[in-house]
Amino acid sequence: MKKDSVKVGIIGFGTVGSGTARILLEKGGLLKERTGLNIVLHKIADLDITRDRGFKVPDGILTTNVSDIIENDDIDIVVELIGGINPAKGFILKALQRRKHVVTANKALLATEGNELFQSASDNKVDIGFEASVAGGIPIIKALREGLIANSITAIYGIINGTCNYILTKMTDEKAEFADVLKEAQRLGYAEADPTFDIEGIDTAHKLTILSSLAYGIPLSFNELYKEGITKITSQDIEFASEFGYKIKLLAITKLSEGEIEMRVHPTMIPNNYLISKVDGVFNAVYIEGDSVGATMYYGKGAGDMPTGSAVVADIVDISKMLVHGKVSEYKGNQTERQPYKIKKIEDIESMYYFRFSAMDKPGVLSKISGILGNYNISIASVIQKGRRIGGSVPLVILTHTAKERDVLNALREIDELPVVSEKTMFIRVEGKGE
Ligand code: HSE
Repeated sequence: MKKDSVKVGIIGFGTVGSGTARILLEKGGLLKERTGLNIVLHKIADLDITRDRGFKVPDGILTTNVSDIIENDDIDIVVELIGGINPAKGFILKALQRRKHVVTANKALLATEGNELFQSASDNKVDIGFEASVAGGIPIIKALREGLIANSITAIYGIINGTCNYILTKMTDEKAEFADVLKEAQRLGYAEADPTFDIEGIDTAHKLTILSSLAYGIPLSFNELYKEGITKITSQDIEFASEFGYKIKLLAITKLSEGEIEMRVHPTMIPNNYLISKVDGVFNAVYIEGDSVGATMYYGKGAGDMPTGSAVVADIVDISKMLVHGKVSEYKGNQTERQPYKIKKIEDIESMYYFRFSAMDKPGVLSKISGILGNYNISIASVIQKGRRIGGSVPLVILTHTAKERDVLNALREIDELPVVSEKTMFIRVEGKGE
């Protein structure tokens, strides 16, 4: 059925809800000029409808009752912006069952429950837009699904958590320690009061789950992804990395190697001269390699009311175009096109490594450590030892050539049991130049 206007209901009037509503209200004319579509903000539901959001909302739009949106026959597109799993999941399922298209920024929900949601969307012949779920304002989902449609994706590397990137940038620039910078990030409102999802790599893992699913046509596989946060990184590691010519970033990595998919989130050393290592502060960036296009990179704000609102509105416009032009769902949930790829376990990957041993400063220690590394086929590329502490331990730092992670874990277990090694060895995976 052809329509001449599309009605939108937003659930959640927080940061992203406010940005989205503001764009729809203030740029309705511009959107109409550019698309010919009348996109009308019909309702906004939130428990708090009295707080001033800094712009005027027309009378009759605000409600505290979510049914005014989900059960409203006038509304075509339900925009879920409350975040979290419940009650967001129930709201979305209900909306889909009522044949409403859904737009969401909810990466946690899509990464963990998305297969069920996309199945329901497909059953009900409606669409779910989720551009805002990864990298905020950067149109990365559109780039992957449309701009790069002619490519097999060989690798994606992303800095997709602004909080972690802000913390690592500050630690690098000011030689500050993790705990102090985290407190500052919380004070400035970058990190959540409970920042676990950010600093433990969980938020990045949610977003990478979505990118991998799109890139390789696999189901959303959050539980099979390896994740490690930035809490163990010290300013000393950042300084050593810099002496070797590297930056430390929390990277989301997915690549196809030997017919298997790697999906991993962990602090990573990247050469200083790589474009992605220059992405600092709260900014996000995603590097995508396709077999036809080669290397591409996308940069911008990964969070915030207006950048994320910009992505939400782009989805609303796409769905509105479909509705107005009388087509039923153009997009399929990508994970319905399942490929027979296996996801590689972290022990099976190969990488270069940075090791920081806390070793006694006495003759023979380096040869003991290098002997064990050699026994596991781990070849040393460079060594630094700094400082001399008589009778105590000093940091001994080694960069390796490419090695198998399983061998690295076994070697470190053996090394950490040596009486001359006083603390658990720190290791960081290294990407980029090497052999
Ligand atoms: N906590 C996220 C970040 C917000 O720091 O990037 C956007 O998903």
